[in-house]
Amino acid sequence: MALVQETDFGTPASDAAASVTLTIDGVGVTVPEGTSIMRAAVAMGTQIPKLCATDSLNAFGSCRLCLVEIGGRPGTPASCTTPVAPGMAVRTQTPRLAQLRRGVMELYISDHPLDCLTCAANGDCELQDMAGAVGLREVRYGYDGANHLAAAKDTSNPYFTFDAAKCIVCSRCVRACEEVQGTFALTIQGRGFESKVAAGMDEGFLGSECVSCGACVQACPTATLIENQVIALGQPEHSAVTTCAYCGVGCSFKAEMRGEEVVRMVPYKDGQANRGHSCVKGRFAWGYATHRERILKPMVRERITDPWREVAWEEAIARVAGEFRRIQAAHGQDAIGGITSSRCTNEETYLLQKLVRAGFGNNNVDTCARVCHSPTGYGLKETFGTSAGTQDFDSVEHADVVMVIGANPTDGHPVFASRLKRRLRQGAKLIVIDPRRIDLVRGPHVQAAQHLPLQPGTNVAVLTAIAHVVVTEGLVNEAFVRERCDPASFADWAGFVADPSRSPEAVAQLAGVPAATIRDAARLYATGGNAAIYYGLGVTEHSQGTTTVMAIANLAMATGNIGRPGVGVNPLRGQNNVQGSCDMGSFPHELPGYRHVATEPVRALFEADWGRKLNPEPGLRIPNMLDAAVGGSFKGLYVHGEDILQSDPDTHHVAAGLAAMECVVVHDLFLNETANYAHVFLPGSTFLERDGTFTNAERRIQRIRRVMRPRARYADWEAIQEVARAMGLAMTYAHPSEIMDEIARLTPSFAGVSYARLDELGSVQWPCNGAAPAGTPVMHQDRFVRGSGRFLITEYQPTDERANRRFPLLLTTGRILSQYNVGAQTRRTANTIWHEEDRLEIHPADAEPRGIRSGTWVRLSSRAGETALRALVTDRVAPGVVYTTFHHPMTQANVVTTDFSDWATNCPEYKVTAVQVAPSNGPTEWQLRYAEQANASRRIAADAAD
Ligand code: SF4
Ligand code: SF4
Ligand code: SF4
Ligand code: FES
Repeated sequence: MALVQETDFGTPASDAAASVTLTIDGVGVTVPEGTSIMRAAVAMGTQIPKLCATDSLNAFGSCRLCLVEIGGRPGTPASCTTPVAPGMAVRTQTPRLAQLRRGVMELYISDHPLDCLTCAANGDCELQDMAGAVGLREVRYGYDGANHLAAAKDTSNPYFTFDAAKCIVCSRCVRACEEVQGTFALTIQGRGFESKVAAGMDEGFLGSECVSCGACVQACPTATLIENQVIALGQPEHSAVTTCAYCGVGCSFKAEMRGEEVVRMVPYKDGQANRGHSCVKGRFAWGYATHRERILKPMVRERITDPWREVAWEEAIARVAGEFRRIQAAHGQDAIGGITSSRCTNEETYLLQKLVRAGFGNNNVDTCARVCHSPTGYGLKETFGTSAGTQDFDSVEHADVVMVIGANPTDGHPVFASRLKRRLRQGAKLIVIDPRRIDLVRGPHVQAAQHLPLQPGTNVAVLTAIAHVVVTEGLVNEAFVRERCDPASFADWAGFVADPSRSPEAVAQLAGVPAATIRDAARLYATGGNAAIYYGLGVTEHSQGTTTVMAIANLAMATGNIGRPGVGVNPLRGQNNVQGSCDMGSFPHELPGYRHVATEPVRALFEADWGRKLNPEPGLRIPNMLDAAVGGSFKGLYVHGEDILQSDPDTHHVAAGLAAMECVVVHDLFLNETANYAHVFLPGSTFLERDGTFTNAERRIQRIRRVMRPRARYADWEAIQEVARAMGLAMTYAHPSEIMDEIARLTPSFAGVSYARLDELGSVQWPCNGAAPAGTPVMHQDRFVRGSGRFLITEYQPTDERANRRFPLLLTTGRILSQYNVGAQTRRTANTIWHEEDRLEIHPADAEPRGIRSGTWVRLSSRAGETALRALVTDRVAPGVVYTTFHHPMTQANVVTTDFSDWATNCPEYKVTAVQVAPSNGPTEWQLRYAEQANASRRIAADAAD
């Protein structure tokens, strides 16, 4: 395997339709109007020397190395900043240009350490390459003059080093931070010889606003900004293109390796979701793959109080199959089930649901999407006809108005956030509907036109009030509704929302948002041009999560904002493969492709292919499995890549359900919290150790590619296959591509998907079939999948979870950039430097009367339970609202969340919990016990590693 090479065209592509023909060194070339001479030259295979230009950044024209001669024009213009013109005759190689370029290089090199042989970037340094390209042989100025060779290094960032002595002040890093990332953490300080790159107020990278995305490292043409791993390990020797295993943005990376060791992950420029950008997690936080706490051998035990015993895979698999068969014989076919993971591949998810349906003979399969985006699936299917977002990420570049509801993209979906911020800097308007003042509300060069800081639990009231304004102020897109939507449902809905009881004035007080703000937001959304909605778990994790999704869909249809670039309804998926795990038939009532198990012809199709009779009755959802376990009828569970004890609501109830089972199998990387209740532990593999596909929030199916052998012998799909075989279900896949072939054979929306197609196109967005062989970037273009769009009534029902005298505050939860979900991976990386513990955000008006200051330990209690954590006093949250993240098991925020859930899907109501907050002396008793237990688990893993 060689290194995957990418061409640097020097400047960004022009999207102009018109083209221009010119000659470069006597050869004709035709390129889009607005293309730079530099890019046109690269397109025809001619490299013009350059240093300050790279095609991810706008041309800057500072290094003067890319000079060219143009027939009929005086001087030697920079080819990076000069656009092509019809008939232009460019010369890139003349004696005059060669002399000028050598002169420029001499100046650079006279102030640069001459340590190429020992430099970590040796062989991957554009300065070195350019010295060669211009034929530099000597430096007339010598090396003794004033220079920067003694400038100090900044090693504050855990992942990369800034060696100022090697900086050529080309400003690529500064521009990457501004243009690509949108953080504006870097500046060029001083002038002339004194010019230097400074992070923040020259306080070092770690102390500055830097979010460690790595864009500056990637842009740097020298060894000034370089990954610590490259310094430690040397230059990579081979690479493969793969997909980030963290969030639903689905960034594409080149995994650059030495042997089986990852040297670095480099965002892939051709990645169709990320366009060459990344965040700190995907770029740097993959060290968990080789963390010493990873469990690499299967383990079993009789009782959950017994110590674990390492066994061979054969024994562990036989134990799983034997126990599951025994339980079914004793307690019935329905007494066992499985939970698929939204972090595992489509192929693995498909296999596990097949194991349950065809091997266990029931439909007791569910997914962790149950606790996040199940309302999206249900709400969008009912209104549009398909359970998925409508757009690709490129679409945001055509949006004029963006409404972000219940999402915090800069922390949860950072690469999408960077693309959104760029669009906002270009002039698009932003509406934020969120109880918290997220970073997008006011950030560098970005300011929301409207922020609606609504009370948690009032989404439906606010969105219906926005619809009221659209209908009563005549802002409905009548033509769209007439041509594309169901007229009867529209008439019912319009009458419903127009009722004065649903006006902004009627709901302002309960929502905590002034009526005028709601009206302004509605007018902006309906009349501002292309309007797109992006939303997250702040929409779905409510007792009315599904109703809110429907309200969003209603609004988009009423204003005609569906079916073209720049508009749409876009759920931002939390985990990398939430979309895929739902597509693959992880819900108890649906076979792959969202087809109901009760539909006879669909079942017949799978029965013929799988050679097994399938059960037509929908199975149990996760909460029902746990209830049945407590009730005594559900006895065995296979949990794949999911820590339900930490991620599901009402921790005490989850623990009781798990403890009541006779065989819990945990298939994961680490001994997670759920494993405390497991009888068998099957070691999992990371995304670096297996082949497969993930489907991101845009419905984009992308490859992950194996770059190292599975450290625990089996990739997850192989282990599931072994369990299936042991249970008598024939599975004979030799490679995940064969599983995808089966998925394509049985699932119409995946009919055109194959590994060959993915390798050819890079990725495809489903539906991908005969009608759309290259996939479908934007859905519902001419008609909705269900035919005509269906408006649904969205009656606001206040949640039963209300603040009262005992629990006067409302808790809502979210994520932070550097950590991921329950933190199993990110807590085992240097990312903890940014977030060591969960904190409780509380408004000064609530903190002061309680005697709480930032850093004070507080007890957070609800009717479900209590935990303790430190406070952070801030006006980011409104009075009456408190907020925390849920990344650390020591906090276990879900100890306090309740068992209320969405009426349609059982998605838990994580975002509204009535709580009390009071100063405390430190962790609660259970937290101290937990800390002890966690240390013991760590010792087991460490002993095993030794
Ligand atoms: S750090 Fe690198 S990218 Fe930034 S100015 Fe210096 S050489 Fe250029
Ligand atoms: S790592 Fe990202 S945020 Fe930090 S300075 Fe570089 S570009 Fe800016
Ligand atoms: S934005 Fe999401 S997919 Fe992209 S690198 Fe970050 S965590 Fe990975
Ligand atoms: S590359 Fe054109 S001026 Fe630097």
